[in-house]
Amino acid sequence: MAINQATATDAQQPVSAEQGAHLISLRDAGKRYGNILALQGVDMDVDPGRVTCVLGDNGAGKSTLIKIIAGRHEHTDGEFLIEGESVHLRSPREALERGIAAVYQDLAVVPLMPIWRNFFLGSELTKGFGPFKSLDVEQMKEITKKELLDMGIDLRDVDQPIGQLSGGERQCVAIARAVYFGAKALILDEPTAALGVKQSGVVLRYILAARDRGLGVIFITHNPHHAFPVGDSFLLLKRGKSIGYYDKADITLDELTAQMAGGAELEELAHELEQLGGYTQDIAVIREVEDDIPDVPAK
Ligand SMILES: Nc1ncnc2c1ncn2[C@@H]1O[C@H](COP(=O)(O)OP(=O)(O)O)[C@@H](O)[C@H]1O
Ligand SMILES: [Mg+2]
Repeated sequence: MAINQATATDAQQPVSAEQGAHLISLRDAGKRYGNILALQGVDMDVDPGRVTCVLGDNGAGKSTLIKIIAGRHEHTDGEFLIEGESVHLRSPREALERGIAAVYQDLAVVPLMPIWRNFFLGSELTKGFGPFKSLDVEQMKEITKKELLDMGIDLRDVDQPIGQLSGGERQCVAIARAVYFGAKALILDEPTAALGVKQSGVVLRYILAARDRGLGVIFITHNPHHAFPVGDSFLLLKRGKSIGYYDKADITLDELTAQMAGGAELEELAHELEQLGGYTQDIAVIREVEDDIPDVPAK
């Protein structure tokens, strides 16, 4: 893999996106909280129209990693590059301005407000001028409906309170919102963790829809069965360190699961999954997602 060498950009110079640079790159990146080394030595690339998965158990450093990329915590070691420019983001606003949007599990929605209102929250459209200025409700409703439909989300009524939607549907609205507001990179922090099998399948579809719209997607999960069918590359974290970074062509679902579980623990896990009946069910939903998406090679 070609590592971009021409990275450090003089702060005084105007910056332009470098030819051939990745949308986002981490080079030997890490984060210390005082004496605690939460993340170290991470290399990763994110590109438009691709899904990069970050896998790891609790405490692996997944949230730390996305906090760096989303501008919530500055990295303390290594390099963070956006379109070839070495950056230190100091706030989520700075990340947003550079086209990096994050969808967190605990979505910041106002449950009693209609879907369209949440879709435009903080970026409301208005009409008229001065004292005659008012919210352009009709246009916001229309755009919300259209954008959701374009992502394949058919909600009968964008006027219903968003709190009435399922967790999966809310994730999907958040993804459509990021796409509409021009995100180049979309970070999804464990969007399927709290969801059932079927709803997870729905969210996985919209991850692919966002990818097909040309976004670089970072999908954080601890479930290799969710990551594998939608991912183009896989970063595996364990106790704050990278234990592997693979392109899809170089790893199978079984190998990914084995890496995650860690050799000896795998036997036990497979057995457990079998007993729970979760393994086969998961696979069935994932196959369904794959069937819909012709350019994901079926494994
Ligand atoms: N703000 C913080 N201060 C100190 N340590 C932290 C902080 N955030 C995370 N950590 C530590 O960093 C490690 C990685 O945590 P985290 O990134 O939340 O992992 P994950 O999201 O994969 O569960 C953990 O050991 C955690 O205790
Ligand atoms: Mg976390």
